[in-house]
Amino acid sequence: MVKFRKSDRIEAISLSEIVQISESSSKMKAQGHDILALSTGEPDFQTPTHICDAAVEAMQLGQTRYTPTAGTPALRKAITDDATFEATPENVIVSTGAKQVLANIFLATLNDGDEVIMPTPYWTSYSDIVTVAGGVPVLACCGPDQGFKMTPEQLDAAITPKTRWLLINSPSNPTGAMYTHDELQALAGVLVNHPHVWIASDEIYQHLSYVPFTSFRQAAPELAERTIIVNGVSKAHSMTGWRIGWGIGPVDLIKAMITVQGQITSGACSIAQAAAVAALSGPKDHIAERLAIFLSRREMIVQALNAIPGISCPVPDGAFYVFPSCAGLIGSRTPVGVVIENDADFCAFVLAIAGLAIVPGRAFGQPNHFRLSFAYSDADLKDGCSRIKNAVSRLSLPH
Ligand SMILES: Cc1ncc(COP(=O)(O)O)c(C=O)c1O
Repeated sequence: MVKFRKSDRIEAISLSEIVQISESSSKMKAQGHDILALSTGEPDFQTPTHICDAAVEAMQLGQTRYTPTAGTPALRKAITDDATFEATPENVIVSTGAKQVLANIFLATLNDGDEVIMPTPYWTSYSDIVTVAGGVPVLACCGPDQGFKMTPEQLDAAITPKTRWLLINSPSNPTGAMYTHDELQALAGVLVNHPHVWIASDEIYQHLSYVPFTSFRQAAPELAERTIIVNGVSKAHSMTGWRIGWGIGPVDLIKAMITVQGQITSGACSIAQAAAVAALSGPKDHIAERLAIFLSRREMIVQALNAIPGISCPVPDGAFYVFPSCAGLIGSRTPVGVVIENDADFCAFVLAIAGLAIVPGRAFGQPNHFRLSFAYSDADLKDGCSRIKNAVSRLSLPH
């Protein structure tokens, strides 16, 4: 019998818990169960028409062939024009989503055992991408007491001779936390003394900010020679399926990333790149319109969750997630006497009793919390909150 064997690298990681939850809730739905999923980080809006039109036009003009590995000249230029700091097209790589940009960064730079510091909670894929590239994720616990943000002291303490990168994300998935200009400068103040540490700043939620946004590059121009900014069209322009993201960084790093990408996927889709040019250079009214909708959803969901006993929901400054604590429900008992021992038990109970899919905090390295995405309609969000309320009302609370 032939036995399948995974590589050690793939043994060390697993299918994203978010993907697992969304797949199992879809399966339950297909079996006829009344299931609502508020687990996915994807705007519920259509890609604006002028962006789709640009894609059709590109096809009609025959832009259907391989593109340069680093991205089309038109898109690399549009990216630099759109950036909030100085950059040239040579500083830009276009990839198949921001996720591939992150993979390129770590595959291009990590040797086995190199460390990557990530403020925790972190986006689930970060640690697995770093692990696949041979690196070691160094998780710095940044809990709700510090607004889910890393302090300069924590950063200083986490740096070792093996540190290669600090990977930060503002606005953050899963917490919505955002670093202010001053907070970024304070982190930069630490990094100035550690020239072997480079900075990857994932700013994919830049345009989903409810308070003023600062790019790490703006806050720390003195570190530009070792900073890469990651961004893309997925969230701001409702283009998750088009798969276009980019990195803006020092030329030598970009060249190394182009080498990786050239051997794995080559240039991103020609048609999607033409659409991304239209997103960056065309009308942008949809960004403000959609932000206003997300803002009103944020108010509604935070209020509704905070009214549920045992749940405490901070107000996120950006992105479209809330990351409430369910610590007040740990130790409670279900109607059949099973003890809710952690966030995963709580999320499994909510799914079983109320048919609502949400993601346990452990998927992001932060126990006793859960993530709920508000990139869904008002009706679904209201329904979701009543399902949680309903499920919690069936628990016998610990006190
Ligand atoms: C923090 C963060 N970075 C990167 C990505 C990946 O974005 P893309 O769709 O461009 O690959 C996501 C998607 O959920 C995200 O939440």
